[in-house]
Amino acid sequence: MEIGNLNHSRSRSYKIAVLGLGHVGLPTAVGFSSLGWDVIGADEDAAKVELIRAGRVPFFEPGLDDLLHRTLASGRFQATSDVTQAIRAATVVFICVGTPQREDGAADLSQIEAISRAIGRNLNGYKLVVEKSTVPAITASWIQRTIQRYAALKVAETNGDGNVEGAAEGPESSEADFDVASNPEFLQEGQALENFFEPCRIVIGADSERARTILSELYSGLQRPMVVADVTTAELIKHAANAFLSTKISFINMVADICDAVGADVTRVAEGLGLDPRISPAFLKAGIGFGGYCFPKDLRAFAHLAEQQGVDCSLLRAVERINTRRVEVFLEKVRNSVWVISGKKLGVLGLAFKPNTDDIREAPSLKIIEALLKEGAELRLHDPWAMPAAKALYPPVAGLITYWESPYEVARGVEALLLLTEWDEYNHLDLGRLRDLMQVPALIDGRNFFSPQEARQARFSYAGMGRRGGGPSLRELAAPGQLWPAAPVGTGVGVDVNG
Ligand code: UGA
Repeated sequence: MEIGNLNHSRSRSYKIAVLGLGHVGLPTAVGFSSLGWDVIGADEDAAKVELIRAGRVPFFEPGLDDLLHRTLASGRFQATSDVTQAIRAATVVFICVGTPQREDGAADLSQIEAISRAIGRNLNGYKLVVEKSTVPAITASWIQRTIQRYAALKVAETNGDGNVEGAAEGPESSEADFDVASNPEFLQEGQALENFFEPCRIVIGADSERARTILSELYSGLQRPMVVADVTTAELIKHAANAFLSTKISFINMVADICDAVGADVTRVAEGLGLDPRISPAFLKAGIGFGGYCFPKDLRAFAHLAEQQGVDCSLLRAVERINTRRVEVFLEKVRNSVWVISGKKLGVLGLAFKPNTDDIREAPSLKIIEALLKEGAELRLHDPWAMPAAKALYPPVAGLITYWESPYEVARGVEALLLLTEWDEYNHLDLGRLRDLMQVPALIDGRNFFSPQEARQARFSYAGMGRRGGGPSLRELAAPGQLWPAAPVGTGVGVDVNG
């Protein structure tokens, strides 16, 4: 992928503001800027803005540092903590603020509401306001009403009449010149730039010709398939996409449990499924379940919306339930390996919710760590990027929870190694060296990262997720020198750690 040389001739020029410079906002801002647009990025977090201005990305995202440097040097990207200034400077305003989860599972839209108010108060000419954050369907109509109401309020204040009530219905409100559109992001952490510059599709949700034209022009340098729809439909595409991908993962995890029960190998089942183009191989990796800032909360918010509307969403609730149970399925494998967890020294490789990110939000690793500590384990932890974030949640305590720069240090004296994130660098581990450092050579692979064969060749006992079929043959289990006696296939009990 070549980035940053995508300038193309265009008839018009729009200044873009990107509000919120997190995992979505910052790649979007520097992405548009390297497409040749003039971009101002704004975030209320002044410390974050200072870092960005100095050319430093506040989180780990491959390639983003380099692109940030280039766009800052080109003069086509600036960062500010003055959100009002950014709104006033721009014609197109992308909303990329967070939409965290409320207690009841619904999305907390207070940041979106605050931005909408600020836009309303700062309408100084036509603006196209674009939702990029994942929001429930019909959020755009709330943004629309809020901007209209606060634009009218501003006019009323200017005229010396500060009455908010009824302001949106006043004659001034019709003068507010803006559109609200939806252009959902499909960026995956760790692949954000690839997803920005080579998206499988660009979704444009707009209810006016003017908004559709501007958004199409913004992306005209990319020449990718475009889906044009009304705003509410576009909002729904994003939610449905995340819910569908989560469903695929829970489906294969359910199949993994069946594989463990009957003695089959889920990685082969996934291969057999994925070669059917109607299914596709993507998102069929079984393991400890999906985490991160998006899938868990978006799934709950989608289900919440469906329930509010009286739509049967039991499918989505089952997807969530299966995902929540992954942690217990994994812990059961740990218990099958070490028996009593209390007092056992265990090594953990991988803390981030997936590779190529330092993000641990809703990472399955956190729930596993929590449970193991509660059961009295001593943990030795490693992650190439996520250790600072993990330390903030679980500060190191000697003899209880410690962090190590090298996976080999993690292995020293432990009774099992637990693989929780499939970082590429774990590919190069010398399994023989790891084994020699461990007290008991047991590998419990929450991501099916290692092959049972290679683990066994290195004389590890191995447990994957749904890989009983990939485990040792009965002949191997009966062989002298076998580390563990065999439990009967399908019992799911005993010391056969392959189950
Ligand atoms: C996800 C979507 O993939 C993006 O398209 C979307 O834009 C983003 O959410 C968002 O809504 O902002 P992301 O959360 O970065 O992206 O991560 P994914 O790569 O989708 O992985 C999510 C979780 O599913 C991870 O914990 C990963 O380990 C897990 N996963 C993924 C599996 O367990 N199995 C798989 O086969 C794939």
